[in-house]
Amino acid sequence: MRNHGVVACCSGAALAGVCLFAFAWLAPVAQRSAAAQGDAAAGQAVYKKYCVVCHGETGAGDGPATAKMKVKPANLADKAMLSKLTDAQLMTAITDGKKTEGGAMPPFGKKLGEADRKLVIAFLRALAK
Ligand code: HEC
Repeated sequence: MRNHGVVACCSGAALAGVCLFAFAWLAPVAQRSAAAQGDAAAGQAVYKKYCVVCHGETGAGDGPATAKMKVKPANLADKAMLSKLTDAQLMTAITDGKKTEGGAMPPFGKKLGEADRKLVIAFLRALAK
């Protein structure tokens, strides 16, 4: 009886060890994707407030402020276009703005903190999936 107890205890402990190991291994992955989702959701709020007027709800570049624009905003939901831009390039465009051929992407470096600019990039990545 006594021995049984020890065996049960040991296998229990071994199982717990395996579980802990699996958890330790899987948890960061789950956390990371949850964090990415959280960032995208928070970024959407930033996007709605600052970017929708030009880039539109879906990112297509058809927001209400674009009616009279000569150079329409980039289609941010275009996966091929967005995948060519690195996070650093997106950060530069958002921070400093972009005015190619009379385009009018305003700079957001002063309006948005770096954290918010990062969140909006997470949202753009999710948008163009
Ligand atoms: C006043 C209108 C306007 C607002 C507001 C605006 N954009 Fe833009 N955006 C543009 C225009 C116009 C372009 C195209 C610029 C060009 O290519 O010259 C552009 C281009 C971009 C690009 C593509 C840059 C590239 O390298 O091709 C990104 C990314 C972008 N905008 C993100 C954002 C984000 C994020 C916000 C909100 C924080 C935002 N924009 C707000 C008008 C706007």
